[in-house]
Amino acid sequence: MIEFPAEPTIETSRLTIRLVTQADLPALLEYNSDEAVTRYLPYGNWNGIDDAQEWLGRATTRLAAGEALQFVAVLRETGHVVGSCLLFHFDESSRRAEVGYLLGRKHWGAGYMFEAMKALVDFAFAQMNLRRLEAEIDPRNTSSAELLERLGFVQEGLLRQRWDLKGEVSDSGLYGLLRADWNRRTQPQP
Ligand SMILES: CC(C)(COP(=O)(O)OP(=O)(O)OC[C@H]1O[C@@H](n2cnc3c(N)ncnc32)[C@H](O)[C@@H]1OP(=O)(O)O)[C@@H](O)C(=O)NCCC(=O)NCCS
Repeated sequence: MIEFPAEPTIETSRLTIRLVTQADLPALLEYNSDEAVTRYLPYGNWNGIDDAQEWLGRATTRLAAGEALQFVAVLRETGHVVGSCLLFHFDESSRRAEVGYLLGRKHWGAGYMFEAMKALVDFAFAQMNLRRLEAEIDPRNTSSAELLERLGFVQEGLLRQRWDLKGEVSDSGLYGLLRADWNRRTQPQP
């Protein structure tokens, strides 16, 4: 099992990235009950606080089992939750994990997820000693693809008709980012 840092909280210029709590559920319910947000996610809209509560229960169980770190991104100035991001599908011996993220629709276009993910990627490589990060997206999710590419993820594959969800069959774009490439991009070379 991968060892999680005791207090995994990350500060960026505008955001605090911290583990999700009960108090975050109303904002997350608002975002996850918006079809524009969940359109390309592998689950349906949340229909009420019970769905939010059940999701938090799963996140808590996965945290205790060392399977996932579910974060929220909150504005430093106000504490307002703008979205969520996570590390999951850890493979300890290969030192890799997968990333996922979402923003409330009203927070799109402000660079918040780029800022949050840049910090989370740094955290994953530097604090958790991961070696490789992966992401899987619907290729039609262009905002997500642009975010990954801006972070330096490379599309490594396209799995055709991988999903049959929400009444439609869809492909999966597989992306990867190596710590070595991240360090080359973000650290000054001698
Ligand atoms: C994927 C998702 C998080 C991307 O949101 P986003 O706001 O476009 O992403 P970023 O935080 O990187 O912001 C980039 C945008 O902010 C703009 N921006 C404004 N200020 C900025 C700043 N200070 N820094 C960087 N970008 C900034 C950029 O120009 C860009 O706008 P553009 O898309 O019009 O070019 C969002 O579309 C979403 O939540 N989708 C639904 C959930 C989802 O599909 N998740 C992925 C599943 S795998």
